[in-house]
Order: sequence, then C-alpha cells, then structure tokens
Amino acid sequence: MTTPQTILVAEDEALLRRILTGLFEEAGYRVVVAATGREALDRFADSAPDLVVTDIRMPEVDGLELLARLKALDPEVLVIIMTAFSSVESAVAALRAGAHDYIVKPFVNDDVLQAVRNALRQKELLGENRSLRRELDRSRSYSAIIGVSEAVQTMLELVGKVAATNASILITGESGTGKELVARAVHYRSQRAKGPFIAVNCGALNENLLEAELFGYEKGAFTGATHAREGLLKAADTGTIFLDEIADMPQSLQVKLLRVLQEREVLPVGGRSVVRFDARVVAASNRDLETEVAAGRFREDLYYRLSVIPVRVPPLRDRRGDIPLLSRHFATRFGADMGIAEVRFEPDALDALSGYAWPGNIRELMNAIEHAVALGGDVVARAHLPERVLAATTSAAVISSESVSSLDEVERRHVLSILEREGGNKGRAAELLGIDLSTLYRKLRRYESET
Ligand SMILES: Nc1ncnc2c1ncn2[C@@H]1O[C@H](COP(=O)(O)OP(=O)(O)OP(=O)(O)O)[C@@H](O)[C@H]1O
Ligand SMILES: [Mg+2]
Repeated sequence: MTTPQTILVAEDEALLRRILTGLFEEAGYRVVVAATGREALDRFADSAPDLVVTDIRMPEVDGLELLARLKALDPEVLVIIMTAFSSVESAVAALRAGAHDYIVKPFVNDDVLQAVRNALRQKELLGENRSLRRELDRSRSYSAIIGVSEAVQTMLELVGKVAATNASILITGESGTGKELVARAVHYRSQRAKGPFIAVNCGALNENLLEAELFGYEKGAFTGATHAREGLLKAADTGTIFLDEIADMPQSLQVKLLRVLQEREVLPVGGRSVVRFDARVVAASNRDLETEVAAGRFREDLYYRLSVIPVRVPPLRDRRGDIPLLSRHFATRFGADMGIAEVRFEPDALDALSGYAWPGNIRELMNAIEHAVALGGDVVARAHLPERVLAATTSAAVISSESVSSLDEVERRHVLSILEREGGNKGRAAELLGIDLSTLYRKLRRYESET
C-alpha cells in the first residue's frame, strides 16, 4: 500500500476551502488546510506536503509571498497558484517566481484535478531521477554488475564496447536476469552518462496512454489533456530512453515508433509540428523477439531497427559459478541494513544455493538471500533457505541415502526437480530426461492424480 500524497490548501474563503478539500479527498489525497498564508507556513513545516495549492489574495502573507518563503525553505516545493480571472497577470508573476502552475477562478473541478495530477507526476519523475542517481552512487561503490563467469564477462565486454556508440541496443534475457541493470550500465558507461536515463514499461500502459507518454501531447488532444506535455523521448534528450517489455507494445504503436526512430522526430498527440529528439534507445524483452517476429506479433522492421546490437543476458543456471559471489554480495547488502557487519555462509547452504535452478534468476536469488539473512543473521545455514530451494536439492539426497523410496518415488522426484530446474519448460525437461514430451505429460498427469 502506498501512503496517500498530501496537498496543503491555503485559501481564506471557507467555502472554497471546503470544496477543494472534498475534491482532493475524493481523489484519494490527504488534505491539510490553512486559512492564511502565515498558517500555511506553519502547516507546511509540520505536514511536509507533496504539493501546495494556494490562493493568491490572502490577508497577512499573500500567495506570492507565501510562494517566495516556501521556495526559500525548499527550492523544489511544488506550488499551484489560484487566481481570479480578472488578475491573470499576477499568475504570470507567480510562474516567474517559481510556481508550477496556476488555476483561474472560478474553476472547473476536472481542470483543478488535472493540474494537481500533472504537478504530482512531475514530482514523481524528479523523484525517480533522484533515486536513480542515489542508486547509481550506491551501485558504483558496489561495482554494479556482479559476476566472474565467462558468460557475464563476455557480456560485459560487449556492453563496454557498444556503450560508447549511439547504436540501438536490444537486451533479451529471462525475467530477473538483470536486463535493466545492463541497460543502466550501457547508459552510465556512455558519453550520455550525464544526461537522463528514462525507463518506460511498454506493457504497463494502454496504447493511447503509451503513445501520449512517449511522444507527448498538445493541450486539448484528448479529454484530460488540459496542458501540453513533452513526451519521454524528448525528455530523454542527451540521455538514454529504456523501452522495457518492448514485446508488449501494441502493433499499431510499433509502426509509429519505427518511423519516429528513423526520422528522429516525434509528432505529439494532437500536434501539428514535429519535435526533434536526441535520445539513445535501449530496449528490453524477456521474450525471444525472433519468435515474436516469426509468429507475427512483433514487426520485423522494428526488430531490426532496435536490435542493431543484441545483448543476451544469461540465465543464472548457466552461470552457476557466480552464485556464491552474488549470494555474498546480497548478504552484505541486506546484512548492512540490519547492522550486521559480516554474514557467513555454511558450506551446505552454499551447496544448496548452487544446486538450485533459479527460474526467477537473480531477483529470486536476491529474495532468497534476504529471507535467509533475516532468519539467520550473521550465519546463514541450510535451514534458513526458502523451502523450494531445499526441496529441489533433496532429490539427490534421496537417491544417495539408504532410505526406502520406491523406484517410482525416486523417478517422480527426479522428473519434478529437472522440470523445476528448467523453469517449468517441459520441452527442455523432456529432452534432458531423454523421454518424449507426451511421456512427460503422462507422468505429470499421473503425479497430479496421485497427490
Ligand atoms: N549481475 C548482477 N549483480 C548484482 N545485482 C544484480 C545483477 N543482475 C541483476 N541484479 C539485481 O537483480 C534484480 C533484477 O534485475 P533487473 O530488474 O535488472 O532484471 P530484469 O531482467 O529487468 O527482470 P524483468 O524481466 O523481470 O524485468 C535487480 O535488483 C538487480 O539490481
Ligand atoms: Mg526489467
């Protein structure tokens, strides 16, 4: 659950205060009110609002003065000024003094909400950039991508070589293998490192919203577009735009994106003239895009455009040599959060970690280590590992022990552990087991009916 964002409303008219409070609370925000500018200053200090909406004409400290004082307290404070229709020039003064936006009274509720949403959205974007930068500082001191295996070293070498170019890069790999980390590495090792790194999840938005986000829009382009907004491609100027989950982009938008990438210019939604942009494009997908192309789900021309340089991030099971190193790395990190200077692993814990298939890759390993450190503290033993990691490594123990498992039982465990190791991929599991896919299906059905 996210905590609601807080809006401080400074307004001397009680009725307007009530209307705005109702409007914002209904939209899910927390509201703090002040009847004067002076009161607003006090409330600001104790409620740390995400946004301030203030009337311009108030007794004692008026809106403009309030704005100036808030800016002195917090240069990044977000303020929306409300002004009467007759004094729009004061709104201009407010914008010059650093207000984010203004609302003309009498207002339409939807316009107010839209202005508030836009303002808070910008704050989020700024916040994301800042946390990215913090993360960067942290990851630099941790040397971002951990791995000594040949698979990783080869990949890093490629990343180092291509980072300096402007070529589009397509990163593929299973979920949790570190695709986003690689995308950031490309950015921070390029000459664009000082520019922004903007990540967009192409699967998270519907077609229209995604188009508006990427290309920007003009005021009035659609209901709710009360302000023109720059697209993220443009916002990533001099930096890198990371198009995550690119395979989920709707086909019609794929066509538009191809054109945009070829021309290096976007046409904002509802706009008449194009905007040039200069962002390096890095895309990622956990699906095999060649398969998607073959199946007609992804446009071939866009695929070629994006994958000038393809980078494959190997699954963790193909780089088991990195497991102890990664485990120690994460243990140090989670240990530090808990005030533990050094976390030690018992040998059989490391064996179990190294033997598991990690279908969720590094993300799963990271979660497992967090779990283990939380339970074990400074010494991680086998028993502190998650159930599924232990379960997968018991089948070997069953076979080697003198226990009286029937042959069927041994087979069952073996089949299931191979299937788990292959991340549920039945085709590969059948191949490894040396049986037909149909035989595997039959066995799985039988196991299911037996339990
Ligand atoms: N080589 C590595 N060294 C250290 N941490 C890593 C490494 N690779 C991945 N991680 C960490 O593992 C987590 C998952 O990585 P990331 O989000 O980049 O994966 P992804 O491939 O984008 O996954 P998804 O397909 O699910 O989006 C992140 O917290 C990342 O920091
Ligand atoms: Mg990702």
